[in-house]
Amino acid sequence: MVMGSLVHSWILVIFFLVFSCIREATSAGYAPAGFRPSAWSNAHATFYGDDSGNGMGGACGYGNVFSTGYGANTAALSTVLFKNGYGCGQCFQLQCTTSKWCTKGAFITITATNLCPPNWSQDSNNGGWCNPPRTHFDMSRAAFTKIAQMQAGIVPVSFRRVPCIRTGGLRFNFQGNGYWLLVYVMNVGGGGDVSSMWVKGTKTGWISMSHNWGVAYQAFATLGGQALLSKSLPTLTMKLLSHTTLPLLTGKLE
Ligand SMILES: *[C@@H]1O[C@H](CO)[C@@H](O)[C@H](O)[C@H]1NC(C)=O
Repeated sequence: MVMGSLVHSWILVIFFLVFSCIREATSAGYAPAGFRPSAWSNAHATFYGDDSGNGMGGACGYGNVFSTGYGANTAALSTVLFKNGYGCGQCFQLQCTTSKWCTKGAFITITATNLCPPNWSQDSNNGGWCNPPRTHFDMSRAAFTKIAQMQAGIVPVSFRRVPCIRTGGLRFNFQGNGYWLLVYVMNVGGGGDVSSMWVKGTKTGWISMSHNWGVAYQAFATLGGQALLSKSLPTLTMKLLSHTTLPLLTGKLE
């Protein structure tokens, strides 16, 4: 059985057509309910990698950002924006400002999929761009070149958080064993991020999961052999999701 072999490899990837109201709203051209763009702020942006967007989601745990649906327009956030992983999945609209290398009138929307770590052996104003308290986006080259020319190296940007437009519903990646469940939450629309998670086995009540890292949440509970339910509450889309109880998984975690 397909489910059996997936369980055997300790990984289950499940797609769900939930968030139907978000998807309907976005396809009609409206921002998802419950999340509004933030005000504009200032930051700087650099780029890494080649035009492929580099693929790997790094510190958030998305794995390959192309196969998990995030595409080329991604960025690593400085510590201040990364917020210990709670910034993962958030979407930001950026515009290059005040540099001769800016592409006039161009905007790009990126998803946060990685951490740009501090490098204290570099001055925060000369190479250590991601050092706290700097607000910095280290973007995929593909994303950067939509708002500025590469020669710039680094450009001032203005940015704001915007709703994430996702299709295909929430996506979960399960790891763990019968006593420990680790869930990666992906493809979150609206706010894009996840603030809290619960899981419920057919023989348990709702169990609050703790934040492991990036977009991974964990429960230390005996859930093996049970069907699982889960609910998640991305920040700022809480209202929309509070009445969503997702039937998640009918296979067995062994
Ligand atoms: C930090 O900066 C130093 C000096 O430029 C460099 O040699 C080193 O490779 C950097 N470390 C990382 C992890 O990028």
